[in-house]
Amino acid sequence: MDYILELKDVSFFTQNTRIIQGISLGFEAGKATALAGSSGCGKSTLLKLSAGLIIPTEGDALYKGKSIAGMNRSQNLEFRRESAFVFQDSALWANQTLLQSLDLPLRIHFPGMSKTQREKRIEEVMNSVGYKRSLTIRPASLSMGEQKLIAFGRSMLCKPSLLFLDEWTESLDDSAAQRLITLVKQQKLRNNTIIFVSHNLHIIRELADYVIMLAGGRTYTRLAGEQVKSGRELVELLEKDTT
Ligand SMILES: Nc1ncnc2c1ncn2[C@@H]1O[C@H](COP(=O)(O)OP(=O)(O)O)[C@@H](O)[C@H]1O
Ligand SMILES: [Mg+2]
Repeated sequence: MDYILELKDVSFFTQNTRIIQGISLGFEAGKATALAGSSGCGKSTLLKLSAGLIIPTEGDALYKGKSIAGMNRSQNLEFRRESAFVFQDSALWANQTLLQSLDLPLRIHFPGMSKTQREKRIEEVMNSVGYKRSLTIRPASLSMGEQKLIAFGRSMLCKPSLLFLDEWTESLDDSAAQRLITLVKQQKLRNNTIIFVSHNLHIIRELADYVIMLAGGRTYTRLAGEQVKSGRELVELLEKDTT
């Protein structure tokens, strides 16, 4: 099996705590994989390891067969342009206006774009996520839900083919959440690869081809096809998880 992204016997230790240990996992191109599991089991850490945002203490994370940690500057820049990450806490820059935060990825990855072209792209993305307030304010003036809209919009700016989403619809009202789910569905229709963290059965069933149910950062159960779409197994695993 050819994977677009692969974790090979990956472990991550910090301050003498073993957060992830000995995980091997492959992600197929064009598919959506949900990472689920109880709070604190290591989902966000595993997502960051997969995206190369943190480097494994042991083992390796590969993108198109290349070690992410071993990439040179231009390979890394290309990987960053092709992928996008939405953090669980949105992670917007506190001391920058929203416009500055949104402009930067375009300036880095598309240096040939004019200011007018960048503004047009930002406006397009903000319309698609349904953000209507000013862009010249700072993140502190936004609700958590609005911050999620901006963070998701930021991830879409450079038209990524690989998306990492960490609980990206939390704190949103139902209609805003549905809008962001629909946008991710459209990404799937374009054959993009999506890896997302969620415990929501409805979201998982709507989007996921595979579910990785992580346990204690060491082992996981992998569900596919009918097990995801209609089987009892997923419901039971998610229920077990919240008790
Ligand atoms: N940088 C870090 N330093 C110390 N502990 C961490 C760090 N990142 C995560 N952890 C701990 O590792 C565990 C897994 O965290 P996380 O991956 O955020 O879990 P999840 O997303 O499944 O809730 C938690 O106990 C968390 O407190
Ligand atoms: Mg998390």
